[in-house]
Amino acid sequence: MTKKLYIKTYGCQMNVYDSERMADVLAPLGYGLSDRPDDADLVILNTCHIREKAAEKVYSDLGRLKAPQQEKSETGGRMIIAVAGCVAQAEGDEIMARAPQVDMVFGPQTYHRLPEMISKAKRAAGEKILDTDFPAEDKFDHLPEERVRKGEVTSFLTIQEGCDKFCTFCVVPYTRGAEFSRPATTVLQEARRLVADGVREVTLLGQNVNAYHGEGADGREWGLGRLCRELAEIDGLERIRYTTSHPRDVDDALIAAHGEVEKLMPYLHLPVQSGSDRILDAMNRKHTADEYRRIVDRLRAARPDLALTSDFIVGYPGESDQDFADTLKLVTDIGYAGAFSFKYSERPGTPAASMREQVDETVKSERLIALQQLLDSQQEAFNASMVGKTLPVLLEKPGRHEDQLVGRSPFLQPVHLNIPVSRHAAMIGTVIDCEITGLSGHSLFAAPPGDAGPLSENSASHRPNSGQERISA
Ligand code: 5AD
Ligand code: SF4
Repeated sequence: MTKKLYIKTYGCQMNVYDSERMADVLAPLGYGLSDRPDDADLVILNTCHIREKAAEKVYSDLGRLKAPQQEKSETGGRMIIAVAGCVAQAEGDEIMARAPQVDMVFGPQTYHRLPEMISKAKRAAGEKILDTDFPAEDKFDHLPEERVRKGEVTSFLTIQEGCDKFCTFCVVPYTRGAEFSRPATTVLQEARRLVADGVREVTLLGQNVNAYHGEGADGREWGLGRLCRELAEIDGLERIRYTTSHPRDVDDALIAAHGEVEKLMPYLHLPVQSGSDRILDAMNRKHTADEYRRIVDRLRAARPDLALTSDFIVGYPGESDQDFADTLKLVTDIGYAGAFSFKYSERPGTPAASMREQVDETVKSERLIALQQLLDSQQEAFNASMVGKTLPVLLEKPGRHEDQLVGRSPFLQPVHLNIPVSRHAAMIGTVIDCEITGLSGHSLFAAPPGDAGPLSENSASHRPNSGQERISA
């Protein structure tokens, strides 16, 4: 009988990838994914420690699990509760103390050991399992090759983990550990397997993904630019993206790849955090605002339609009105297609948490509102500028209405278009050029492709060297 597994994922894309891989590890043990925790045999909370709010949520969710766990044991069953991810790594002992109903706590580097942990937990009810090692063995070598896929057209692929940058506000170097790059051959193999399963777009993941320096087929270290070129050679893979990157690690080879590798999408998340040199220095970001501007100039020179997104922190300790004005100025100068912005959150153990000049919460809130207004207006203008353009859209899945498909533009905008349901199966996973006719919120609407007839064997492909069939509008 299949056992029910419920995984809740908090935080970043890396956690989404990790949750999928945990499901892969558990499938051979008879665990099937369930979308509710109520009756689950195993609940995994895959947690995020980046800001205080995210971390605190775990404890309230654990509280809510008490009743279903109790119910399950009253009916003779057992619900094993596990806390995984970055809160587990950072606060393992505290979780055990604060939430006694938790059976297992394990960090992001040990989930390949899940089968052993589960059998231990089963053998000795009441025994707590804590595994927050940074093991010498590489977890990727111990994960099953087969992935439990649900027919998605797009997939994450972790190529790098950890971070050596030590920005003063950030927990990542402590929770995810030192930088580690997977060998390029393994990455390419995994990408080929995904493509064979129907995946058409991969998003390469890493906490500092452009610090990638994995061993290549020639025994040398390959950077991200080289890796993207090699991935682009895979027939059937249509789109390559990566996230999240650090400005200091944008090298010449990566800039050149943006200019020359057509499959590399012109949409780049390049967090800057602040536009003030004083604050950037205090944050240990290792670059100035002008250096960031110059990197963006070079990227745009290589790929003129490149759209940029960023992360921002307001209210970092010591941030003055002038520092904040410098951030607004940088945003105005760059012109973003979207961004995430956050109030600075004190994280235990990070250097910034012990700085004296913490900024008042109300000032943080005011600055956040002002920054978000500016960023929202830039995003709206960017989306509006799509109307009337013809964009290649990767069709991903059926829409909310019966005769509708949803895909993504190169800039990750959802694009809705009316296509008869009879054609959906043939069209999902293909890239079609379509004219953007309107927008609503963050979504675009497109005219259906001109030829609504049956797919033609020799429909025109608008990019050379593409093994993927396309339908031109
Ligand atoms: N407070 C607020 N935001 C933070 N981030 C990371 N650490 C903190 C913190 N202590 C933000 C940064 C980073 C994004 C993932 O989260 O902007 O790029
Ligand atoms: Fe955190 Fe990113 Fe800085 Fe690394 S580069 S410490 S992950 S903010």
